[in-house]
Amino acid sequence: MEFSLLCLPVAVWLLVLAGADFAAAQRSPSCKTMCGDIEVPYPFGLEKECAIHSGFHLNCTTADGTTKLLGGNVEVTKVSVQDNKAWFNTYISRQCYSQSIKRMTDWNAWINITGTPFVVSADDNKVTVLGCNSLAYMRSNDYIIGCVSTCGETSPKNGSCSGAGCCRVDIPRGVRYYEGFFNPLYNTSEIWRTNPCNYVGVIANEAFNFSTTYLNSTVFYDTDGAKKPIVMEWAIARNTCEEAKIDKNTPYACVSDHSNCITNDAGYACRCSDGYEGNPYIYDGCTDIDECLDNVKYPCAGICKNTPGSFTCSCPRGKRMIGSVCLKDQKSTWMAPVVGASIGLVVLVVSVACACSIQDRRNLHRIKQKYFRQHGGLLLFQEMKSQQGIPFKIFSEEEVQEATNRFAEQQVIGHGGHGKVYKGVLKGDVEVAVKRCMTIDEQQKKEFGKEMLILSQINHRNIVKLLGCCLEVEVPMLVYEFIPNGTLFHLIHGSHSGHISLDTRVRIAHESAEALDYLHSSASPPIVHGDVKSANILLNGDFTAKVSDFGASILAPSDESQFVTLVQGTCGYLDPEYMQTCQLTDKSDVYSFGVVLLELLTRKKPFNLKGPEHEKSLSMVFLEAMKENKLEDILDGEIKNDENLEFLEEIAELARQCLEMCGVNRPSMKEVAEKLDGLRKVLQHPWAHKDPEELDSLLGESSSVNSGIILSTGNFSITKKVAVGLESGR
Ligand SMILES: *[C@@H]1O[C@H](CO)[C@@H](O)[C@H](O)[C@H]1NC(C)=O
Ligand SMILES: *[C@@H]1O[C@H](CO)[C@@H](O)[C@H](O)[C@H]1NC(C)=O
Ligand SMILES: *[C@@H]1O[C@H](CO)[C@@H](O)[C@H](O)[C@H]1NC(C)=O
Ligand SMILES: *[C@@H]1O[C@H](CO)[C@@H](O)[C@H](O)[C@H]1NC(C)=O
Ligand SMILES: *[C@@H]1O[C@H](CO)[C@@H](O)[C@H](O)[C@H]1NC(C)=O
Ligand SMILES: *[C@@H]1O[C@H](CO)[C@@H](O)[C@H](O)[C@H]1NC(C)=O
Ligand SMILES: *[C@@H]1O[C@H](CO)[C@@H](O)[C@H](O)[C@H]1NC(C)=O
Ligand SMILES: *[C@@H]1O[C@H](CO)[C@@H](O)[C@H](O)[C@H]1NC(C)=O
Repeated sequence: MEFSLLCLPVAVWLLVLAGADFAAAQRSPSCKTMCGDIEVPYPFGLEKECAIHSGFHLNCTTADGTTKLLGGNVEVTKVSVQDNKAWFNTYISRQCYSQSIKRMTDWNAWINITGTPFVVSADDNKVTVLGCNSLAYMRSNDYIIGCVSTCGETSPKNGSCSGAGCCRVDIPRGVRYYEGFFNPLYNTSEIWRTNPCNYVGVIANEAFNFSTTYLNSTVFYDTDGAKKPIVMEWAIARNTCEEAKIDKNTPYACVSDHSNCITNDAGYACRCSDGYEGNPYIYDGCTDIDECLDNVKYPCAGICKNTPGSFTCSCPRGKRMIGSVCLKDQKSTWMAPVVGASIGLVVLVVSVACACSIQDRRNLHRIKQKYFRQHGGLLLFQEMKSQQGIPFKIFSEEEVQEATNRFAEQQVIGHGGHGKVYKGVLKGDVEVAVKRCMTIDEQQKKEFGKEMLILSQINHRNIVKLLGCCLEVEVPMLVYEFIPNGTLFHLIHGSHSGHISLDTRVRIAHESAEALDYLHSSASPPIVHGDVKSANILLNGDFTAKVSDFGASILAPSDESQFVTLVQGTCGYLDPEYMQTCQLTDKSDVYSFGVVLLELLTRKKPFNLKGPEHEKSLSMVFLEAMKENKLEDILDGEIKNDENLEFLEEIAELARQCLEMCGVNRPSMKEVAEKLDGLRKVLQHPWAHKDPEELDSLLGESSSVNSGIILSTGNFSITKKVAVGLESGR
């Protein structure tokens, strides 16, 4: 009796709460739920009043006798509330040989679902490139991923997609915009009779099965009205579960009993709890699953009994469960079940209250341990034991959460292709930056511990110091020293940054070059940064440069045969040779560093989407200007004067060498650093740069280094073509 009394206030409170919101969240019975054969469950709706908000309003249209479900102008073929997914049909990009004009023609397709509840599901789709001579890319905002597909060495096989006629790579998380486009250097103009077209698109894994007929005919494009399925993930709102629960302005959508909230790449969404099924967005939408009706999914060889949220499976009296079947129990006495049952009951009653929380905590502990192992935590610990004295700490999840105020949005100080960076304060008022990686796949997870160990041992004044990491979470987190004064990108391109002296610019360039040289030649094994850009060079109070963000870094591969079919990087900085060969080398960093030098010289952004075609890429504009002897026109007026032009030309020449099309022709980072060191010394002795001869002698060893740099054999036309390839997608 006491029990039910205790329960009463809670029940009443629930009822009141439910009653108040009922009308708002329940959809009217007059709402249509079918569009042709497609079921459209709440929170989606075919009328504005029937959807949870306007983002979930879909259109059911009938034209030429076919009924279609449309979201905006995209065709929707299925929506699912069980896993918060939706299936769209979208166009793919193609490049075909046209007999009439005897040239290749490109059709670049793009999708933009910015501002909708959807994101492209990173787990269910891949960038898919088809063709016998194709290098195609997917660009998403400032992210590029490429894939090579050829038919030369290995012949294409039905059902196999590993570079022969077909190539697939993972896409980043959180993509809301992308376009597919082709590198014009790879095309089928020579083999068009047998292989007319190349294709690139983001295609659902479940819907794609490679067939060799896709290469020698246009059947792949011609079927399904030229559209291919893509799986989207959706969310009610952009915020996380924690934020949604306390948000007073918009009602929380997970209204059903026995439902819970999950945070996905799109935001927050709802699910029925384990053992329940139905629609968590509707009151009482989640109902108990009767497991006993489905003996395949929930096998039970004995007596099955459904319970709320679960089921029990027991044997008739006189039989015992052996494995999963009930067998006659020879030693059974009538006492055993009775005594067993009563003891069981007592134990059950006593423990029922705390069982859940203990079980939860145990599960949590087990999961943490699992992640810790997965991320190489043990390896790390063993190594640390043998190398005493590294000031590197393994943080617990609680410590990191506390430091960052539970990863509050206000604490975010940066976004990258690989994750978010939060500002945090550890106990004892130590300011730190915490990076939470987002795109760690299984392969990377295994390498994580080892890579962390190497980074933790790097101690260079111009590289952001890694203080520690947290390994007991699903995605590992890194804790860095906090650098207070923002990025070089901000300094150069920020709206309220003032004059930056030439002295400061050369110093930042020199220090960054030293840091990269250290990674390339002093770290063991060598490290290639992989994403050098001004946004990854941080500055502290006195403009000391600190290179950061090793999310894209690789350890120089020990196994030469390793072949990557994945290219990624930031537009404007990406080494064109890397884009073509798919091999990331230290010279790729040199190229990107060359672009940073250009930014310092010109104070222009490396990639300008809005500019006219030929002015989009800073490196192209620069190389063109160099060729036409018009360097002066693009230099930043703030640093340029009659006296130092020669000096600036020296830096520009260094940048030009870094931007050489062929990696082997670029200087090494060591040579770049030495040259900049020499130039910096010149600046500190202002009398020097009046006399070019003296300048040469002052440069000393770095001018002898010059002889090791091949000066002007580059073929600019190739550079240009690649850059055109980058832009033809617009
Ligand atoms: C539905 O279709 C009508 C007419 O085609 C259009 O005016 C309306 O904007 C569409 N609504 C949505 C949500 O796509
Ligand atoms: C995508 O659409 C949004 C809004 O509809 C727009 O602001 C944005 O510029 C678009 N992005 C691109 C790359 O076109
Ligand atoms: C692949 O399958 C298609 C039919 O789907 C068939 O026409 C073709 O001959 C097959 N190719 C090979 C190499 O087996
Ligand atoms: C792909 O198609 C081939 C026949 O072309 C078939 O043998 C194979 O089972 C299919 N694979 C999948 C995953 O559907
Ligand atoms: C296509 O490839 C051929 C060499 O295979 C090359 O000569 C040509 O310039 C490329 N571009 C176009 C647009 O045809
Ligand atoms: C394409 O190649 C497949 C085998 O690889 C063959 O069965 C098919 O007939 C070819 N189709 C055309 C149009 O040549
Ligand atoms: C650097 O940041 C600190 C703390 O935010 C600030 O006090 C200082 O003025 C900044 N220095 C420069 C040069 O911006
Ligand atoms: C540079 O490219 C042009 C074609 O654009 C070619 O004719 C020339 O031979 C190339 N030069 C070198 C040195 O590769």
